[in-house]
Amino acid sequence: MSGDNIIDGKAFAAEVRARVKAQVDRLVAEHGLKPGLAVVLVGEDPASQVYVRNKAKQTVECGMRSDEIRLEATATQEEVLAVVDRLNADPGIHGILVQLPLPDQIDESAVLDRIDPDKDVDGFHVVNTGRLQIGLPALTPCTPRGCMMLLHDRLGDLSGKHAVVVGRSNIVGKPMAMLLLHANCTVTIAHSRTKDLPGLCRQADIVIAAVGRPKFVQGDWIKEGAAVIDVGINRIPKEDGKTRLVGDVDFEAAVGHAGLITPVPGGVGPMTIACLLANTVTAACMAAG
Ligand code: GUN
Repeated sequence: MSGDNIIDGKAFAAEVRARVKAQVDRLVAEHGLKPGLAVVLVGEDPASQVYVRNKAKQTVECGMRSDEIRLEATATQEEVLAVVDRLNADPGIHGILVQLPLPDQIDESAVLDRIDPDKDVDGFHVVNTGRLQIGLPALTPCTPRGCMMLLHDRLGDLSGKHAVVVGRSNIVGKPMAMLLLHANCTVTIAHSRTKDLPGLCRQADIVIAAVGRPKFVQGDWIKEGAAVIDVGINRIPKEDGKTRLVGDVDFEAAVGHAGLITPVPGGVGPMTIACLLANTVTAACMAAG
């Protein structure tokens, strides 16, 4: 994978983290302020454990405080809310992330909306969702923010481009559409009931694939020269009994059509954590006034 059209998200994320580290070093040296990020993990979902481990490692590497709070899969709603309340009240913690998905007995939106909006580094609180919607400064969901950074880096101004967002989740699809709209794209949100999805994607200058289904977007859905951002992280079995990661796009088929494309792994994934760290620094600066 060495084509000019393949975006190296890993290298770009390393640059973002280096900038975050420089900001943290200055905050510590000049203001005695060490940003702190707390991650709450309920249960033992293996994928979540990997994410949480990576987040903690990169948080510390950037010079920040990293707290990890683990609760049993059987934890009650009250126990999870009590942890959020404690972190909201902790002046050394500037960012709080509750890892999703949560076990079935927990009301996800009640937990997310209990987080102090000024510490909501995931940008999932209704206040931040609303602020993003009407174009006010807000902590913004990390994966869509990472996608926008990659697009702006390679394409510059996105005005007038037709972006098709495949997927309408609160975590990626909806905030992604909003960020593209604020960047003056013409945005279509597609989903499982959309008619003629291949034909719609063929009209797109930018395709964002965020459906959570392996190799769902086919190579011949991509207009020649279009930018393809693959948010999917799907683990599929290999012949040797092990597993491998693939995206929501059939990369091998799409790479010959796309003007730009993100691989999986090594595309959007590393950008998500980099943006989380950047959001934590923003939250720490806000807290300091
Ligand atoms: N699970 C998968 N992606 C995310 C994310 O961006 N934030 C949280 N909190 N949980 C997730």
